Amino acid sequence: MKENWKELENSIIDCKKCKLCMTRTNIVFGTGNKNADLMMIGEGPGADEDKQGIPFVGRAGKLMDKAFEGLGLKRDEVYIANVVKCRPPQNRVPEDDEVKACLDYLRNQVILVNPKIIVLLGSTALKNILGKEYGITQARGKWIEKKGIMYMPTWHPAALLRDENKKIEFWKDLREVIKKYEEIKENKNGK
Ligand code: URA
Repeated sequence: MKENWKELENSIIDCKKCKLCMTRTNIVFGTGNKNADLMMIGEGPGADEDKQGIPFVGRAGKLMDKAFEGLGLKRDEVYIANVVKCRPPQNRVPEDDEVKACLDYLRNQVILVNPKIIVLLGSTALKNILGKEYGITQARGKWIEKKGIMYMPTWHPAALLRDENKKIEFWKDLREVIKKYEEIKENKNGK
């Protein structure tokens, strides 16, 4: 466990803990508000993210940005990270050994951000953070509380590109998230 961002960022700079280091262009660590009450967790970088070193900047990310915009949420208000920090070749699902090697970085990010709400984007985030017993189709749209954090599993934005119904459900889930997020903000401001 690294006690601060500088130490954590330094510890990942030259990471060779798994085979994804051999094919990556950039490590995609995370982006956004490091003190956010709301954190989004995806699967792993795609081609655009690998090129730029920033999560969710490709097609799926643009769709997520659109949803944020529609819901009045600024992208830089939240913290965004992925289960694995390096792109799996051909955008395949990260393998268990890769997740195992990488997950401590994400755990450390969660501890440092200390969010109240975490949105789990898709099956990989759900299963690797809350447990393999969860399935995204069943779990999406329902709050799960663990160790003082409220988790909302929902579809991965890439899935929305292929299915209009999922887009509707994604928006519905994010609306729930924003409702709770606003409540937390109001409580903080003592309203
Ligand atoms: N998909 C993800 O899961 N994460 C990204 O950063 C981009 C696409």
